[in-house]
Amino acid sequence: MELTNITGLKGQVTIPGDKSISHRSIMLGSIAKGITEVHNFLEGADCLATIECFRKLGIEIEKNQDTVVVHGKGLHGLTPPTDILDVGNSGTTTRLLAGILCGQEFDSKISGDESLNSRPMKRIMEPLTQMGANISSILRNDCAPLYITKGKLHGFHYDSPIASAQVKSCILLAGLYADGETSVTEPNLSRNHTELMLKEFGADLMSAHELTNTRTTASVRPCQELYGQKITVPGDISSAAYFIAAGLLVPDSEILIKDIGINPTRAGFLKVCEDMGGDIILQNEHFCGGERVADILVRTSNLHGITIEGSIIPTLIDEIPIIAVMAAMAEGTTIIRDAEELKVKETDRIETVTDNLKAMSCDVTPTFDGMIIEGGKPLLGATIHTLLDHRIAMAFSIAALVAEGTTNILDSDCVDVSYPSFYDTFELLL
Ligand code: S3P
Repeated sequence: MELTNITGLKGQVTIPGDKSISHRSIMLGSIAKGITEVHNFLEGADCLATIECFRKLGIEIEKNQDTVVVHGKGLHGLTPPTDILDVGNSGTTTRLLAGILCGQEFDSKISGDESLNSRPMKRIMEPLTQMGANISSILRNDCAPLYITKGKLHGFHYDSPIASAQVKSCILLAGLYADGETSVTEPNLSRNHTELMLKEFGADLMSAHELTNTRTTASVRPCQELYGQKITVPGDISSAAYFIAAGLLVPDSEILIKDIGINPTRAGFLKVCEDMGGDIILQNEHFCGGERVADILVRTSNLHGITIEGSIIPTLIDEIPIIAVMAAMAEGTTIIRDAEELKVKETDRIETVTDNLKAMSCDVTPTFDGMIIEGGKPLLGATIHTLLDHRIAMAFSIAALVAEGTTNILDSDCVDVSYPSFYDTFELLL
């Protein structure tokens, strides 16, 4: 994909449904009794992989564009898969599904693409094993493919060394099948969509204090059944972030982005935009199925560098590539630290972000847990190596809109993982 710079992005857009919530709607819908109807489901490759996995586990799932109907069979209704469960590029599918499968009476195998099969799974295998699960790495490298056989799960408490919603959710989902209460404490609060949705489905759950971040423990007790729900998935803030950044950076722009999920455990990006001097207004705030939602109005702004560190990091971890692009265009220095988790995403994002920013002539230094960006110098068009990482493709497509000359995004089709219509949304703003 070749892109050049532009001015004056104007108009109103809606953004496809939240990826994290879409995954969870299929998973909980499948293990709940009765019908779960999902609206604004994200039709990205990751979430479609989740649907395929649950179909292989015997669940009937009807899909008509972004409306999905899941015919849930209850907590003990999954049936043995005839085939390996293919999770594609999706870490969320792998880790949450593994939690559910450890509670089943049958054997299963999970595998994905090359990137997925090199991501760390010890972080779930260790606590699941402590609960009594039988889960192993087939190649004995602590990565997928994973092999799961029948175990006997006990309620337990896990002190997680990392703030990871995937780890927390994996354990809580396994906890539905345990013989007592299961709880997870994390060093900082990660996204809490699993907790919110489990409550909606009728689970006996206590969640961390959402707003003040004073408690970072979530716990679940085994229950008889979960019950199917009607879910409207809010727009994905991680996808909206590219358009928010475009609105802030591209001269003479004004964009209204409708119905975006602004759950405080996900919305660190909005705080960073404000702290950098961005003109952002939230309108029409309301709740939808336990999730906070708003429209976001963005106007072109002069940004300045800031330091981003500590407890805010898990609330914006997927937005760091686009934050780095904003920092390159902002006056002064931006420091990102405490973000070592970037190394184990779809690519090592400390490396992919800093390598590509350097290619665009930005003065950036990678560090062991983040990066230091000296902003304010013009970016120059370059060839961007996405390494098939969707968030790198999208972040550097925004960089291309404000860079001098032409930028070539290699393998730009990888946006299909989380946002197949990404480039179409732009057409609406030209
Ligand atoms: C996700 C959690 C995050 C995030 C990922 C989606 C989720 O990963 O990076 O894109 O849906 O739970 P970690 O929980 O591993 O940080």
